[in-house]
Amino acid sequence: MKKIIIGNWKMYPTSVKDAQEKFKGIKKVASTLRNVQTVVCPPFVYTSDLKRLVTGHRCVVGAQNAWFENEGAFTGEVSPAMLASLKLTYVILGHSERRALGETDELVNKKVVAAVKAGLTVVLCVGETERDPDGEYLKHIAMQVKIALKGVTKKDLAHIVIAYEPIWAIGKHALRAASTDDALEVAILIKKTLMELYSKEGGIIPILYGGSVDAKNAWEFLTKSHVDGLLVGRASLDPKIFGEILKNADSIK
Ligand code: PGA
Repeated sequence: MKKIIIGNWKMYPTSVKDAQEKFKGIKKVASTLRNVQTVVCPPFVYTSDLKRLVTGHRCVVGAQNAWFENEGAFTGEVSPAMLASLKLTYVILGHSERRALGETDELVNKKVVAAVKAGLTVVLCVGETERDPDGEYLKHIAMQVKIALKGVTKKDLAHIVIAYEPIWAIGKHALRAASTDDALEVAILIKKTLMELYSKEGGIIPILYGGSVDAKNAWEFLTKSHVDGLLVGRASLDPKIFGEILKNADSIK
C-alpha cells in the first residue's frame, strides 16, 4: 500500500503567491514518487489556486476542516458538498487545534458522517493531552475513535484514515517528539479498537502518526511504529524538508 503523507499547513503562509510556490516545490518531488500519496491541506482560501496546479493523482490538495451540513446559515463555515464540488478528496477532521476551540467528540462525529456521505475521505485526528502512568490515555483515545465513527458503516471504511497525534508532541511548543514506541503502542490500540468495531474489515483503515515529524524522524516512524503514513505540520511548509520526508517514505517498500 502507498504511504499517505499529509501536509497540514494550518494558517500559513500569508500570501497566495507563497502558497503557490510552496505547492509547486512539493509537487515537483511528489509527482515523481510511486509509493507515496501526497496530500497538501492549505487554508481554504488558497484551495482553488492550488487545485489549478495539480496535474495527476500523486500530489493532491485537501482541506483542514468542514462543517456537518451541506448548506445553511453557518457564517464562516465551509461544507463537505462544497469541498466535493471542487473535487477535493481528503479532509482533516477533529484536529486538536480545533478541539481546543471547542469541538467535542459529538461534533467531530457529525462532521465525519457528513463528510463521508459527501464522498470525501476523512483524516480523523485523535490523541491525548498528556500521558498518565495508569494508561487512562489509552481509554481516552479508544473512546475518541468510537464516538467519531458512530454511524460509519463497513462500506464507508475505504473513506476513513486515522491520524494519531499526541497533543504534547505537536507544534513548536511540543514537550518532545513522541518516541517510535509511543506511536507504535497507540497505533496498535487504534487497530484493536477498529477490529472491535468492524471485525477484520477494520484492518483496512490506514493509521498515520503526527506531531513534530521532520526529515530526521520520518523514516523511523514509518518503519518502527509501523504506521501507514504521516501528518506533518511545520515541516510541510518547507518544500525541501517535506520533499525529504516524501522521499524517505517512498524508499520503504
Ligand atoms: P507539527 O504539527 O508537525 O508542526 O508538530 C502536526 C499537526 O498539528 O498536524
